[in-house]
Amino acid sequence: MEQTDKTLVADAAKAAASVPFTQGTTGSNPLDAPSTDRPRILVVANQKGGVGKTTTAINLGTALAAVGERVLIVDLDPQGNASTGLGITTAERKVSAYDVLIGAALIEDAVVPTKVPGLDIVPSTMDLLGAELELATVQRRSHRLRDALARMPRHGKQRETSEAEKAMTLRPYSYLLIDCPPSLNLLTINAMTAADAILVPLQCEFFALEGLSQLLRTVERVKTSLNPRLDIQGIVLTMFDQRNKLSDQVASDVRTHLGDKVYRTVIPRNVRISEAPSYGKPALVYDHRCAGSKAYMRLAAEMIQRERAIRRSAA
Ligand SMILES: Nc1ncnc2c1ncn2[C@@H]1O[C@H](COP(=O)(O)OP(=O)(O)OP(=O)(O)O)[C@@H](O)[C@H]1O
Ligand SMILES: [Mg+2]
Repeated sequence: MEQTDKTLVADAAKAAASVPFTQGTTGSNPLDAPSTDRPRILVVANQKGGVGKTTTAINLGTALAAVGERVLIVDLDPQGNASTGLGITTAERKVSAYDVLIGAALIEDAVVPTKVPGLDIVPSTMDLLGAELELATVQRRSHRLRDALARMPRHGKQRETSEAEKAMTLRPYSYLLIDCPPSLNLLTINAMTAADAILVPLQCEFFALEGLSQLLRTVERVKTSLNPRLDIQGIVLTMFDQRNKLSDQVASDVRTHLGDKVYRTVIPRNVRISEAPSYGKPALVYDHRCAGSKAYMRLAAEMIQRERAIRRSAA
C-alpha cells in the first residue's frame, strides 16, 4: 500500500481512538436494549459518495425487520435514494423529512410503511436541498431531528390496517437508521445530533480511507458540543471484490489499524444488490439468496449479537 494511504489509515486510527466505541468493549455507555426501551438510533454516514450508505440502510433495516425488530429508516438525503429503493412513490411523499425538519409536520405524520413488514420510512424529497439555508437562522438548528424524534410516540403512528398489521404497529421501534447525504452538512449534523452511534460504510477501494479521519473528527466535535452520547457503532466494509487484490489489502489494512471497530462481516460486490433499487425493493426481497443479501443478514446478526454481549457485560 502506498505511503500516503498508510498515513490516512494511521490518521483515521488516531481520530477513532478519541471516540468511545460500542463494540467489543465493556462500554462506558450501556446500550439501551433494542425491542424494550427506546429505539437504538444509528446514523449511516460517510461524506464520501457512493460507498454503500443507502444500500446498507435499506438492507440492514430489512434484515433487522426480518429477524423481528421494528425498524424506521429516516431518509435525510435530498437524493431520496432510500425512499426510491424501498419503492416509495412521489404521492407517498406528501409529508417528508423536510417538513419534519422545518417544523411543518410531526415525524409520525411523515412515516410511510414499506412493503417489508416491520420496516417503515420517513421519505425524503428534493426540498431537503433548501433545508440548510432555511434553518440557518433558526434556534437549535442542529437539534431539529433530535427534537422531532423525542416527541414521536415510541410506536410511531397507529395505522388503520389489518389486525395483524395493527398488532405490529403497536410494537415500539427498536432501531432507527438515518441515511445521510454524502456531505458533512447540517443534515448530517442533525443526524449525528439525534443518534446514539454512527455506522460508517467504507468501500474497499484505494481511496476508501480518504476523509475517514475528517469524519471521525466531526464525530468528536459533535460529541463535545452537541451530543455527548454519540459513539462509533462500527465500520462496515462494502463492495468487497474477491478477485481484486486491492480489496483484500484495503480490508486487512483497515482491520490492522481500526481493530474491532470493523465488523467481521464484509459486504461483497454483488450485482443483485445494485439491481434491486430499480425494482423498488431491498436486495433481501429481490433475491434473498444472493451473496449480498446473505452478507446483510450476517451483518444484522453480528450487530445484534455484539449489542447483547455489551448489555450483558454492562448489567
Ligand atoms: N455490495 C454492492 N455490490 C454492488 N453494488 C453495490 C453494492 N453496494 C452498493 N452498490 C451500488 O453502488 C452504488 C452506490 O451505493 P449507495 O447508493 O448505497 O451509496 P451511497 O453511499 O448511499 O451513495 P451517496 O453518497 O450518493 O448517497 C449504487 O448504485 C448501489 O446500487
Ligand atoms: Mg445514499
